[in-house]
Amino acid sequence: KLVYVLNGPNLNLLGQREPGIYGAQTLDDIAAMLIERGGMLDCEIEMRQSNHEGHLVDWLHEAQAEEAHAVLLNAGAYTHTSVALHDAIRAITTPVIEVHLSNPHTREEFRHKSWVGMAAKGTIAGFGANSYVIALEAAAAL
Ligand code: DQA
Repeated sequence: KLVYVLNGPNLNLLGQREPGIYGAQTLDDIAAMLIERGGMLDCEIEMRQSNHEGHLVDWLHEAQAEEAHAVLLNAGAYTHTSVALHDAIRAITTPVIEVHLSNPHTREEFRHKSWVGMAAKGTIAGFGANSYVIALEAAAAL
């Protein structure tokens, strides 16, 4: 099962970026966790990160074209702003699981609205790097 794991803006700085909120693990650490768990779940991980909204849109289309089993999407701040990502999720039939390290609902008001979540199959948030692993388990079970 091919699973795309798409990461949006500033997530390339994980590990050094506000570690009190986002933890000490880097995106490479998370990729390693996913590859290990993926091995047990018969899932192949395609890990990507971009600071550019359109790249994320293109990769959602690609996931469908490549007949991916599911997409895990941490869109970073685009979660709260991007109608384009909302539309892209709706435009494909591949199930998309919204992922966040932090729980946006416990944070600033501007993080409470999620354009991604309004189109996604479901959301896993608030468990740090483990949010990705839990989301992968959910994806594998789809
Ligand atoms: C985040 C939460 C977003 O509100 C924030 O803009 C991020 C990271 C998370 O994983 O907790 O960049 O998506």
